Amino acid sequence: MSEQHALQQALQQAGERLGCDKVIPHGYHVHYARHLLHWWHQPLRLLEIGIGGEDRELGGASLNMWHQVFEQAELYGLDIYPKQALDRPRLQTFVIDQGDPAALREFARQHGPFDVIIDDGSHRRSDQLASLFNLIEHVRPGGYYILEDYFTAYWPVYDGSTLARDFLDTPVRWLKQTIDIININNLLSEQVRRQVPNWKIDALHVYPGIAFIGKSHHSPPSEIPNEHFLLNQIELDELRYGIYKQLFFTHSRDPMQHLEALLEIKKWVDASIQTADEALKPKSS
Ligand SMILES: C[S@@+](CC[C@H](N)C(=O)[O-])C[C@H]1O[C@@H](n2cnc3c(N)ncnc32)[C@H](O)[C@@H]1O
Repeated sequence: MSEQHALQQALQQAGERLGCDKVIPHGYHVHYARHLLHWWHQPLRLLEIGIGGEDRELGGASLNMWHQVFEQAELYGLDIYPKQALDRPRLQTFVIDQGDPAALREFARQHGPFDVIIDDGSHRRSDQLASLFNLIEHVRPGGYYILEDYFTAYWPVYDGSTLARDFLDTPVRWLKQTIDIININNLLSEQVRRQVPNWKIDALHVYPGIAFIGKSHHSPPSEIPNEHFLLNQIELDELRYGIYKQLFFTHSRDPMQHLEALLEIKKWVDASIQTADEALKPKSS
């Protein structure tokens, strides 16, 4: 049996016994076994947002699973409800609201950095984004920031939307933007590069329900071959889309603002394509 499969089985057995929903019903242990294998039997600093049980029960199923399976792990759990009854050697819990940037930064300053941060808290988009933006820099190179149940971004009960999914600022929008961030050194203009947060990431693994954002050891490479190509491409981009630059910038700050303007752009793009098609049609004599 491969090491990865052995870890998967260890997580499954512990998770089922402890009633951890990462195993049943979600099946996330398969992906955890793939990405966390490196730390099995090695020191691991893992922070999980959302301990479980809310104010009704103690919870702690996943922290208990990590504790049992990763025998050298130092575990940290955050929740809005006190969970100190779970504390023991290698496991500490803290009462912190994941939507509170100042509290998160202070916590990370005191206890970070981490190899792995898992967001399995409120699943509300403003909380998830506050945690992502304030904690990702506290993940070590080679480690992961993990978003569980990101599909809640499509559901109004968690402040998400299916209809407005491309206009709301949600974790799913940021998972899509992660591709721009990984390519930060292939973006042409300095002005655009400044708008993209440099999270120092080089991988994105998206599975149904769970996504792993990988922190890089090195600055992501640039494929821009030379200065001449760069200037030429900036000029071409400006010629084609420069008149809409301010609009694009405003849209990337707040995608909801510009639905109307996007419709205008669509009309303009469709009209240009049609004009180009007309010009290519053979002339009848
Ligand atoms: C889905 S449960 C976590 C389950 C746990 N990670 C597991 O796998 O066993 C979500 C937890 O997030 C906590 N929570 C809700 N809002 C929060 C917030 N704003 N900040 C931190 N934790 C929050 C809830 O109290 C609840 O215990």
